[in-house]
Formats: sequence, C-alpha cells, structure tokens
Amino acid sequence: MNDSVETVIAEVEKLYGKKNQTIDWNSWMWNDHVKVVARFAEEISTREGCNVEQCILAAYLHDIAFAWMRKDNPACDEESLKTARKILTQAGVAPKEVALIVDKIIAPHGMTGDIPTLKEALVLSTADAMAHFMTDFYLTLCRERYLFENASLEDYKAWVTAKIERDMHRKIHFEPERRLAKPQYEALKILFGNKRG
Ligand SMILES: [Fe+2]
Repeated sequence: MNDSVETVIAEVEKLYGKKNQTIDWNSWMWNDHVKVVARFAEEISTREGCNVEQCILAAYLHDIAFAWMRKDNPACDEESLKTARKILTQAGVAPKEVALIVDKIIAPHGMTGDIPTLKEALVLSTADAMAHFMTDFYLTLCRERYLFENASLEDYKAWVTAKIERDMHRKIHFEPERRLAKPQYEALKILFGNKRG
C-alpha cells in the first residue's frame, strides 16, 4: 500500500477516534462499517481488475462526515465530499485523481441517480451495501434509534424494508456479492416484514 493510502487511513481513523456529539457510534462505524466496506472494496476491485487503491481510498472516505454529523443534516453529503477532497489532497493525491475519487466514485455511491459507468463506483456501492447486509448494521441502528428517535418501530421496519430492496437491487452490481448477500437479504425481509400480534 502506498504512502497516500496509509496517510488517508490514519486520518480517517483519527476522525472516527473522536467523540461524535450527535450519536455515540464512532467506534462501531470505524470497526464495523468503514473497515468492512474497505475490505469488500479491496476484494471486489482486485477480482474485477479495477483500480484497487482508488476503491480503498473511496471506501475509507465515503460518508466521512458521519463521524461528526447526522445523516439527516442537509449539509452532511456536501461536508463528506469536501472533507474527502481535503484529506486526499493533503495526503498528496494528484488533483485529477482526487476529483475522480470524490466526484465519480464517492458521490454516486448511494445509487439514487443514474447508474454510473465507472466500474470503481460500482465497487464502492456494492461494498457499502455488503457491509449493511453482512454486519449487525440494522440492529445497531435500531438499538440506537438513529434517525428514528421520534418514530415508531413500524416506521423503522418500513425504512429497513425499503433500504434492503435498494441495497440488493440498486447498489449490488456483482454476482458473487449478490449470491453472498441473498440469505441475509431474505432473513432481513422476513424479520422486518413481521407484523405485530
Ligand atoms: Fe456506508
């Protein structure tokens, strides 16, 4: 791994090492989300013959503002992109590559718009969705009532049900991962689809 990648990882770890005033989950985010996304990103990008370094950098920096901001803050996405740009630049990544990683790989990873053609963007999106399926992501969010402090369990179940569909059908772009996620997807669909009494 080159120096820039190591510098970026250290910087991101430092940010998640701080106390998050909006939700006390930075240690979980770092260990059980960010690092899991990075592992999937490395594995998939290697197998698919993509630029592995760009995928790893994007994985560590995706949604970096979650380390200190809530997801429902309208400034959160822009703050993540701005911080990613700053950290990459400070780590010595060339301006053209910074723009590619931030604007073409990180920015579309939610897959809410058109599906990007750049394969590295598909890798990050897949890795992110896999981290949701293959960890206790949905249980952790439920336990913390993150974004659902004033909502009912039924609201949370409806949100999860929609999110697992989006993750499975819009964010995962490779067959091996689709196969791996399938049992988790089916289990979550049953669990969160269960009605009361
Ligand atoms: Fe993520």
